Amino acid sequence: MRVLVTGGAGYIGSHTLLELTAQAHAVCVLDDYSNATPEVLNRVRSLSNGAVADFTGDVRDPVMLDHVMQEFRPDAVIHFAGLKAVGESQEKPLLYYDVNVGGTLALLRAMDRAGCKTIIFSSSATVYGEPVYLPYDEAHPTAPLSVYGRSKLMAEQILTSWAATAPDKAAVLLRYFNPVGAHNSAKIGEDPKDIPNNLMPYIAQVAVGKRDALTVFGDDYDTPDGTGLRDYIHVVDLARAHVAALDYAVKNAGARPFNIGTGQSYSVRDMVAAFETASGRKIKTVQATRRSGDIAKMQADASRAAKELGWKAEHDLNDMASSVWAWQSGNPDGYGA
Ligand code: WQD
Repeated sequence: MRVLVTGGAGYIGSHTLLELTAQAHAVCVLDDYSNATPEVLNRVRSLSNGAVADFTGDVRDPVMLDHVMQEFRPDAVIHFAGLKAVGESQEKPLLYYDVNVGGTLALLRAMDRAGCKTIIFSSSATVYGEPVYLPYDEAHPTAPLSVYGRSKLMAEQILTSWAATAPDKAAVLLRYFNPVGAHNSAKIGEDPKDIPNNLMPYIAQVAVGKRDALTVFGDDYDTPDGTGLRDYIHVVDLARAHVAALDYAVKNAGARPFNIGTGQSYSVRDMVAAFETASGRKIKTVQATRRSGDIAKMQADASRAAKELGWKAEHDLNDMASSVWAWQSGNPDGYGA
């Protein structure tokens, strides 16, 4: 298939390009490089045999979208382009709704003009909010706690309404749990622009000496060691879920959400210990109080994805930690090196 990948130069997008080209899909990236660098695509091209077309532009720009649709003529779109910092979303709600919701609207309008009827959407387990029960299945109530989470849920609802307008439209909504890890080449990985918000890249920067110590947010949660539990998913497994979702969307019209996680959960201390083992380095930690907006535990019921997409996570915690260490130690300044 011919697949347009918005936000294809980002962390998850870049790993997905490699899995798509490995399955002989033709790919084209639309990215504005607001949180990525063009160097990513040089590395993706060197790791894949397939050509990777690319356009630089904003996913809200209808003129650019029409241009890309006419030039590349995609059969399907994978829509990653968006903003993802939870804290920032509370400070800049209009920006988050504009990019995440407005970007999705602009893209769907352009797809309608071009007659493209298949989309895979980058959603988040954060749409569920405070757990009513765990593990979360896809029927769990949705009550996101942040502007970021609400923007993802609104986009899901728009995609669902769009998919109902014709019998041959398909929207697959992938609700990611906590993506971590890097490609086994150690040539692509996560490269946060500023101080990392997320646990794994922060630990990795402590390990290479870029940051002094990890601040552990909360040790009084109702969990075995008191720190937060999350369902961490290796980015290569996550990337493969998009390829499986494309195959599914070709055969199944309508909109459908899928949890993409491993079904297991690990604490902050588990992640630190795994990284110490993988890197052979001690990770200094400083205990702090809970981070506002955090919940104690998140865990996926990923059985729908297994049954209907034929997809299952294959990488374990050690693969996650060792691939991040290989990437971070080989590229201490990320793509800037
Ligand atoms: C994991 C655990 C923290 C940093 C967020 C978004 C979610 C998704 C992924 C998407 C928690 C603890 C963290 C640190 C710490 N975003 N922690 N010290 O909060 O589960 O999910 O990122 O695009 O929508 O909400 O992930 O990696 O920030 O935190 O102790 O410096 O690590 O409290 O228990 P989170 P995270």
